[in-house]
Formats: sequence, C-alpha cells, structure tokens
Amino acid sequence: EKGNYRHFMQKEIFEQPTVVAQTLRSYLRPVEQQVALPQIDFDISAIDRVTIVACGTSYYAGLVAKYWFERFARVPVDIDYASEFRYRDPVLQPGGLALFISQSGETADTLAALRHCKANGQTIAVVVNVPTSSMAREADLLLPTHAGPEIGVASTKAFTCQLAVLAALAAHFAVKKGQMSREEEAAIVHHLMEVPASLNEALSHDAEIAAMAHLIAPARDVLYLGRGPDYPLALEGALKLKEISYIHAEGYASGEMKHGPIALIDEAVPVIVLAPSGPLFEKTVSNMEEVRARGGKIVLISDAEGLAEAGEGCMATIEMPKVHPLIAPLVYAVPVQLLAYHTACVKGTDVDQPRNLAKSVTVE
Ligand code: M6R
Repeated sequence: EKGNYRHFMQKEIFEQPTVVAQTLRSYLRPVEQQVALPQIDFDISAIDRVTIVACGTSYYAGLVAKYWFERFARVPVDIDYASEFRYRDPVLQPGGLALFISQSGETADTLAALRHCKANGQTIAVVVNVPTSSMAREADLLLPTHAGPEIGVASTKAFTCQLAVLAALAAHFAVKKGQMSREEEAAIVHHLMEVPASLNEALSHDAEIAAMAHLIAPARDVLYLGRGPDYPLALEGALKLKEISYIHAEGYASGEMKHGPIALIDEAVPVIVLAPSGPLFEKTVSNMEEVRARGGKIVLISDAEGLAEAGEGCMATIEMPKVHPLIAPLVYAVPVQLLAYHTACVKGTDVDQPRNLAKSVTVE
C-alpha cells in the first residue's frame, strides 16, 4: 500500500532511514562497537581476491563496495556487469570470493554468473533482498538486505540497504585480514550508526528538490559528475533520471569530463555535481570551473563547507549533512533519487511502471 504517498517509489525513498537502520541492526553490534556477520563456515581471512558481479543499480552498489574492499581490506577486486562477465571467460583462481548483488535474487544474467563461479571453485556470497530467491538458495554466504518488498521499478531503498551490508562486509573482511584495528572498526560502526539520521536530514530537502526539478525537466541531456566512492553515485543518478523521466543522462568520473563529454556542455545541459567536502573536493571544484567557463549550469550537491567554498554561481545547490567520506555514498543517494523522482513527476511519466522496463529481468 502507498499510504499517503503518490507513488511507491516516493514511499520507498522515504522508508530508507527505517530500512537501512533495520538492515544495519543485523550487521552491527553497537555496544561492542563491532561488525557482526552471519556465521561463516569458511576462512574469510584466506580470501585474496574478490569478484563482484551484478546488473544496473546493484552493479553501482558493487562499484562503491570495490572502493571499500580495496581501501579497508587491501584485497584486489574485479567487478563486472553480469551480462559481460559470463561471456568473457574470466580468470577465476581457486580461493576467490565471488560476490553477487541483487534486489530480486532472480536476475537471469547474475544468476547464470553465480552458477559459473560456483562451478569454477569460487566461494559464493550473495547480497539479496528476497530471502527466498534463487540466488539466496545457492549462496555459501547469504547476506540479506532488510529493505522489505520494493515495488517501484526504479530501485531506491534496496540500493542503500545493499551499501549498508557491503560496508559492514568490507569492514569485517578488513578486520579478519588484519588490516583494520579495533579502534578503526569501532569508528566505522559509529559512522554507520549515524546513517539513518543523515538520511533523514537528506530527505528534509524534498520540497527544495521538487522545486529544482522544474529546472531539470526541460533538459534534453543531463550530466552527473562524481569522484572516488561518489563516482558510482553519478552513474546511479543518471540511471534513475533516464529510467523514470526519459531524459538522456550520463554519469562521469569528474576528472574524465575533459576527455570528451566536455564537448557537450552548453547552457542547455544541466550538470549535477556530487561532491562532499574532503580531500577530493578541490579537484572537483576545478572541474566545475571548466563547466562554468563553457556556460554550463551546475547543481552542486555538497555539505555546508563545500557549498560555502564553491556554491556561488551555481544554478542550484542542495545541502547534505557533513558525513564521513565512507558513508557519503549512502546519504548522497537520496538527493539523486529525489531529483529523478520529482523530475519525472513534472514530466508526468508513469513513475512506478516506466515504459519498456520490468522490475525483475529474468531473460538473458
Ligand atoms: O534485482 P536486481 O538487483 O538484480 O536488478 C538489477 C537491475 O535490473 C536493476 O537494478 C535495475 O537497473 C533497476 N531498474 C534500477 O533502478
């Protein structure tokens, strides 16, 4: 039931503080300040390579996880779209962990990739929202997200719950591999516990974002830029906008813009920049200057510090709470979801059932 909401997607966006908290409860021990994973009957510390495979939004969650696994656990990560992975004859060495991410647990390409990895001696971990799904049944390590049923075709709450589980998994892995101290683990648990409150704060900008959607709706093309762990969010923002508003959008790594897409920039192409303040911020500011010099219209999504430094001269800004860079991808998911949602509403499209799309892609 939609309750007081106009669409399931809107309801699901607003459920995120609750369902992410629900998901985190089963992966964190706040009192002990530890990450707690389900019983694992293999030696996780022996794993020296991770292969992540998924499709669509779940793939973007995997891209964020690659940053976390490499940063925390210092383990190399290979990631691919399931439809590519299956047919490229990937090199799978014994002792690897293959990690599949899926809301439905039934996506045909992801499931086929899982079976391929299983047949090739990989340990199978699955982050899945439907606990009775095929992927859940075939996993060695089942890591459920507790997002509840997701009805809107555009994935929202499943994504942030996937990120919550993946952050906990990366931290656990790092501890087991001796790459993370007890203090660092405690700090990560603390930052993750703050996520639901930060999601609420991000959601409080809903009305502002709804107004901003009128600036985006007339565009034919929109560019999303992000760096580091926020680069996948740029991809996710572009996918959300395409799916439900039918506006052509592309996500780019901020630093890649001058290698091609900058040719597209003019006053008709809004550029959405996802840039929390921090070590990567200055670099992104110079990318913004490049956009501005070509008449590009910028929407800057950042925290108070970032907006104070670079907000002037932007077409619009959205202020996010100041969060640890680790959890920024979870929080910055909210404004990109809301911007896509409200833009689709302005355009009058069928938000929950966009044309040509199915909730679960069970054909290859
Ligand atoms: O159920 P899955 O997570 O395996 O689905 C993967 C994609 O089909 C899905 O994320 C799709 O890209 C969504 N419509 C994105 O909003």
